[in-house]
Amino acid sequence: MRTWVAPGRVNIIGEHTDYNDGFVLPIALPLVVECAARVRADAMVRVVSRQRPDETVLVAVAELAVERDRVPGWSRYPLGVVAEFVRRGHAIGGVDLELDGAVPIGAGLSSSAALSCAVAIALRDLFAPTVADRELIEIARAAENDYVGAPTGLLDQSASILCTAGHALFLDIRRFVEIGRDDDTNTVAHEQIPFDLARFELELLVIDTGQPHEHVDGGYAERRAQCEAAAAQLGVPALRDVDSVAALDRIADDVSRRRARHVVTENARVLTVAQRLRDGADPRTIGSVLTEGHASLRDDFEVSTPALDAAVAAALGAGAHGARMVGGGFGGSVIALVDRDSTDAVVAAVRNRFADAGFAEPRTFVVGPAAGAHRAD
Ligand code: GLA
Repeated sequence: MRTWVAPGRVNIIGEHTDYNDGFVLPIALPLVVECAARVRADAMVRVVSRQRPDETVLVAVAELAVERDRVPGWSRYPLGVVAEFVRRGHAIGGVDLELDGAVPIGAGLSSSAALSCAVAIALRDLFAPTVADRELIEIARAAENDYVGAPTGLLDQSASILCTAGHALFLDIRRFVEIGRDDDTNTVAHEQIPFDLARFELELLVIDTGQPHEHVDGGYAERRAQCEAAAAQLGVPALRDVDSVAALDRIADDVSRRRARHVVTENARVLTVAQRLRDGADPRTIGSVLTEGHASLRDDFEVSTPALDAAVAAALGAGAHGARMVGGGFGGSVIALVDRDSTDAVVAAVRNRFADAGFAEPRTFVVGPAAGAHRAD
């Protein structure tokens, strides 16, 4: 067997912008899902997971579509990837897939895209070597949208496949989708921007609240629908096409206007942060922009939770330069940009705040920009 790995991600800034054709700026995490794989002589897919030692899933390649509702939920991610390769006409034979995930599940760190992308790059190497990265990202996304039923955008899969160590990935989702899928050399739609925190004696702290989120649930889909409705009211294809908050006055309904305002201001924040990092500025200068992003997700987009808000407030109170919730929201994690010598104080402050509020103890870890998906042996 050979092994492929794909990472989870944190988005530095650019939340709920991907499905509005906007901008994102993620890094890959040093936490990966491993997929060991080998071709089988028959036409069956066998999937096992170290996290599910009692379940072996065995399905004929030709039966993947019809078996969708009968297979265990966790196995829909890998099986969905195989099914999507098949649906697109790639010649996929029998395969053994052995999975081992180290990305915390439901923490807003994209464990599901890490899983789909690990399987996707394994299948590409084994059966369909001409598939370009862009199509691979679409395959992993389609697996989650169509086979699992989670209506995600492209952020997570793009981050897992395209990120490189030491860099944040600036991605213009509209251009990325519009440009022909065989062209992986295009550097306009995506750009690797150096993100070197150690040089400035900074660290990026992840605080996992332990409150899981679920995108198959309604909140995420409802936000998507509200954004589409706001764009329709303004007569534009997507909220990406709105570049001033003043233009939103034409939206009568207060909730729709606030949803749209988050997307418009968040896209601007991505451009600001990307430019500062491109210019080589001290990353402390992006801190306040991250914190503004949190306020916008909390007040305008309304996807934060009391625990996420408490983590942000405690981190800022203990000296973090900026802090925000990451991912889709309704639970999950916060990132905080901290001076290296104050990380311990920030962790202690968050723990104390959680204990006082009666929240479960959070999990904290320091991350840096790691490599995207690759073969590991
Ligand atoms: C989830 C989705 C992404 C993106 C984020 C919010 O992680 O999977 O596509 O929409 O939420 O930025």
